[in-house]
Amino acid sequence: MNYIGSKNKLADFIKKGVYSVVGDDLSDKIFCDIFAGTGIVGRNFKDEVKQIISNDLEYYSFVLNKNYIGNHEKIDFQIYLDELNALNDVEGFIFEQYSQNGKANRNYFSENNGKKIDATRQKIEEWKNNNQINNELYYFLLASLLESADKIANTASVYGAYLKQIKKSAEKNINILPAIFSVNHNEHQVFNEDCNVLIKKIEGDILYLDPPYNARQYGANYHLLNTIAKYDTFIPKGKTGLRNYNKSKYCNKNSVWVSFENLIQQANFKYIFLSYNNEGLMSEETIKKIMQKYGKYDLITTDYQRFKADKTENRNHFATSTTEFLHILEK
Ligand SMILES: C[S@@+](CC[C@H](N)C(=O)[O-])C[C@H]1O[C@@H](n2cnc3c(N)ncnc32)[C@H](O)[C@@H]1O
Repeated sequence: MNYIGSKNKLADFIKKGVYSVVGDDLSDKIFCDIFAGTGIVGRNFKDEVKQIISNDLEYYSFVLNKNYIGNHEKIDFQIYLDELNALNDVEGFIFEQYSQNGKANRNYFSENNGKKIDATRQKIEEWKNNNQINNELYYFLLASLLESADKIANTASVYGAYLKQIKKSAEKNINILPAIFSVNHNEHQVFNEDCNVLIKKIEGDILYLDPPYNARQYGANYHLLNTIAKYDTFIPKGKTGLRNYNKSKYCNKNSVWVSFENLIQQANFKYIFLSYNNEGLMSEETIKKIMQKYGKYDLITTDYQRFKADKTENRNHFATSTTEFLHILEK
């Protein structure tokens, strides 16, 4: 998934940073990814550690992580995916409120894809309610739907707005592909809480922090993924069809450092790693000042090419260079 602040391309940098401090053998370590997003960082460490603890404030992220991190034993999913991909259209909430020719005229999905998403989402819930699938398969199927729907969404990048015309990639029929997770013997934990609440209830060895860097709220930018994941009833607001969304304190310039210091202070982890960049709401100095109070502090950096959607030309993207920091604290 193309996600704001995704660490997909920075995974090697983060891994090397962790190895350089903790050592190469992490097999007896508990690793917590407390702002997990797509789960890509936890996924990178899942086969190397004793346990992953994964958490995010957003429900769609919880669903992805219940699958990618929580699922660790083989699932026979193919017959279910085949059945989902063969369903007849349903004119449900996603079609009416978020698709081309639906009554709300919000073009987040083509007409056909909106109806297929409704059909798929309803069938998954029906299977769960009839006890035809267990929790593991439920989250696997939901994660597969979220990933596949995101691929054919008619947006420039996030769900803050849709494009007027249906773009080429959004015209393609949705194909529910498997959201493959890695199989291993270890049990992992997945939460859907505010990190400052969760931190008081957990402990471990390595805490990885990847908070939002700026004022863009994830709940607003990915509202439609929450709506597909929850499939609840509410009245969508305004032109973009927003739902009520979480407002993270990490997106607020004035209060971010208070929550951040509280998190560091409460953390029952020996090693803490924080990803942040030079354009974030907290300055390098502020972070250093806070972390230094609680133990031995270090910093590593890398230059990083980011691609931004060009707002005037949806097809084009341009690259900007930023410095990515990995702040390190040994408590
Ligand atoms: C930079 S993204 C993480 C990206 C992730 N590392 C990845 O590679 O996909 C920040 C994440 O923090 C989550 N978040 C924001 N405030 C939070 C809070 N108070 N507690 C837990 N998660 C929060 C957002 O929902 C978002 O998924």
